[in-house]
Amino acid sequence: MGGTTGLHGLMLARRQAFDCLAHATLMRAAALGLEPRYLQWLREWELSFGQTIAAADRLLGAGGDDRRRQAEALQRFAEAQQQQFARQLERLAGDNETLRTNAETEAALRFILREQRTARYITQEQVTMHASGPPGDLTITGEGSWSIKPLADASAAESGAAAKADSAAPSYVLPLLPYSFDALEPAIDAVTVREHHGVHHRRHVEALNRAEVMLSSADAAGDAAGCVAWMREAAYRAMEHELHALYWRSMRPAAGRAGDADARGGPAPGGALADALARDFGGAEPFRRRVAAAARSVAGCGWAFLAWLPQRRRLGIGSAAHDRWLADRHAVPLLALDMWEHAYLRRYGADADAYIAAWWTVVDWPAAEARFAAAVRG
Ligand SMILES: [Fe+2]
Repeated sequence: MGGTTGLHGLMLARRQAFDCLAHATLMRAAALGLEPRYLQWLREWELSFGQTIAAADRLLGAGGDDRRRQAEALQRFAEAQQQQFARQLERLAGDNETLRTNAETEAALRFILREQRTARYITQEQVTMHASGPPGDLTITGEGSWSIKPLADASAAESGAAAKADSAAPSYVLPLLPYSFDALEPAIDAVTVREHHGVHHRRHVEALNRAEVMLSSADAAGDAAGCVAWMREAAYRAMEHELHALYWRSMRPAAGRAGDADARGGPAPGGALADALARDFGGAEPFRRRVAAAARSVAGCGWAFLAWLPQRRRLGIGSAAHDRWLADRHAVPLLALDMWEHAYLRRYGADADAYIAAWWTVVDWPAAEARFAAAVRG
């Protein structure tokens, strides 16, 4: 990496992530008729690249002797991220009928693949670094601190005979946390967040990838019972993965800390969402009580969530226990509250009410309002 500060590498990593983000967004916009799971896959990549950009920006604004080491880690991660994205795009292009039969979509895909194949953002020093270790998943471990973990998304799907039966299925990826592990303190402790994200959410992502592969294998073998079983497993894992991803985005650092809440708009809904909560539930407080009741009903084994119900043109509160997916498949979840024990047991024990009360202090209302506005627009 050029220089001793890591600035050159940081700029390369940022540019690489920025280009990939643009490609994912372009692909999603151009791919008319693409199945929802592929669109979700592209959205997850967009989120992941956005977080890499944010990480680069944060390091660019940081000083200190440790920046070079962290910059190298970030550049290594950005390179692995781009390679994996390109690899999955190639697989998608080779196997997805929608992408081949729509001229505009095919042109966009051809352009993106050409860019991805020729893009190189690494220096000779980075080539040497790559040869010495595997790429990894970047996880926030503290302010400006990063660690490398093995990638969980593609390796399982790319090895073994089962993978050959399903070269079309994109691997799901564990999204990066949009904040550090301790950012939700004191409402949710750092150890819980670390294990929740790195163990529990990761386990669902890996199981979802495996279920997708096994479903294709069962389908190829004409195993009807196997198809039903793996389809059910995939649906459950997909629900858990999607709700976990929303759960992380339903919270923001320090939203409820003393002296900070008011300055950031306070832990209360605003705008059109506040109006809709008043219309559909009688206000913010009745809404909170109903969410708490829904959450208590699935304490230890499920989820409570706020969703937009497009067919009824109103908000709804729901819960999902065990492997039961949302009753209304058209519902658009806006906020998700994880009520599985792993989300709160360490700090709150069996006191689910205390966890629910603490969760309100870190709810990211501006993000919920943005999701609500998008959902209403359709
Ligand atoms: Fe969870």
